[in-house]
Amino acid sequence: MLRIEHHLTPDDLDKALRRDVQEGLTARPKTLPPKWFYDERGSALFEEITRLPEYYPTRAERAILDQHAPSIGRATAARTLVELGSGSGEKTRLLLDALRSAGTLERFVPVDVSGDFLQGAAERVAAEYPDLGVSAVVGDFERHLHLLPAHPRRLVAILGSTVGNQPARRRIAFLADLRSTLGEGDALLLGVDLVKDPARLVAAYDDARGVTAEFNRNVLHVINRELDADFAPEAFEHVAVWDAEAEWIEMRLRASSPQRVRVGGLDLTVDFAEGEEMRTEISAKFRRATAEAELDSAGFALTQWLTDPDGDFALLLAHPRV
Ligand code: SAH
Ligand code: AVI
Repeated sequence: MLRIEHHLTPDDLDKALRRDVQEGLTARPKTLPPKWFYDERGSALFEEITRLPEYYPTRAERAILDQHAPSIGRATAARTLVELGSGSGEKTRLLLDALRSAGTLERFVPVDVSGDFLQGAAERVAAEYPDLGVSAVVGDFERHLHLLPAHPRRLVAILGSTVGNQPARRRIAFLADLRSTLGEGDALLLGVDLVKDPARLVAAYDDARGVTAEFNRNVLHVINRELDADFAPEAFEHVAVWDAEAEWIEMRLRASSPQRVRVGGLDLTVDFAEGEEMRTEISAKFRRATAEAELDSAGFALTQWLTDPDGDFALLLAHPRV
C-alpha cells in the first residue's frame, strides 16, 4: 500500500528557492545550498555518481549493511523505518529485508525533497514489498521533522553521509531537533564518510567522466528553469577541494570568464569576475570521536560503530538518551 504526503507545495519550493538564491548570489563569497541540486535530473546524476569507480561511499556503506543489517534489525526491532533524504532507496532494501526477517517491520516512510524521484522510488518499493505500508513524504527534513508520522519503535536512517552536507553547528541542531521528536524505543542509524587520504577524497568528488561536474552545474540549470535566469552552465568549471582544517570537501563553481547573469524571477543582475568561485556544497568527513561527541551533544548515545573492511565509511547506531 502506497501513500504520498506533500509538505512542500510548488509555492513553498518557489519561495524557498527564491530566498536561498537571493541570499546566496548577493553574499560575499557567493554560495548556493546543495538542496537545489536535486531536481529529477540532479537525483539521476547523483545515482550515476554512486556507481562511479572513484565514489567509494555508496559501496562502502552497502558493504556495512550487507554484513550488519540483520543485527541492526534484531537490535532495533523497528516497526517503522523512516529514511531522511532517501533518494533511490537502493541500500535501504537491505534494512527493509533485515527488519522483515526480524518479523517487526510494518511501515516504511521515505522522506525527500525531490518529489518526482521520491514518488518513483516509493512506487518501486511498494511493488516489491506488497505487505509493507509505504508512506512517502515529500518534505524538507530541516523543516518538517515534526510532521513525520509518530508511530512507536521507529528506526530513523540517514544514509550516504547526507548529514555531512551541513556544517557542524547546523547538523548538531538538526540532530537535536530529530532527537526531540523521538522517544524511548526509537533509534537512529547514521551513515558518515570518514577522513582519509585527500587524493582519494578529491577523486571521489572530481571523477574522470565529469559526472560530478555535471551534477554540480545542475544547480544552475535548476535556477535557469525555475527563476527565469540565464546562467551559461558551461562557463562554470567544477572545482573540488579538500579543506584540511575544516575536514570537508568543498565543491565550487568557478567562472571561467567574466559573467553577467540575469535572474528574471528575482529582478536581480549578478556579476562574476573571471575566476570567481561560488561554493555549492560542503561534504564533511568524520572521525569517531567527533561523530560520537556530536551525537552526544544532540542527545543521542552511540550503541554501535560499524565500519566496512577498508575503514572508509561508518554506520552509527544510536539511541535517544533518556
Ligand atoms: N540516502 C541516499 C541518497 C543520498 S543523496 C543514499 O545514501 O544514496 C541526498 C538525498 O537527500 C537526495 O535524494 C536529496 O534530494 C535529499 N535531500 C537533500 N536535502 C534535503 C532536505 N533538506 N530535505 C529532504 N531531502 C533532502
Ligand atoms: C548526498 N551527499 C552525501 C553526497 C556527498 O558525497 O556529499 C553528494 C555528492 N556531492 C558530490 N558527489 C556526491
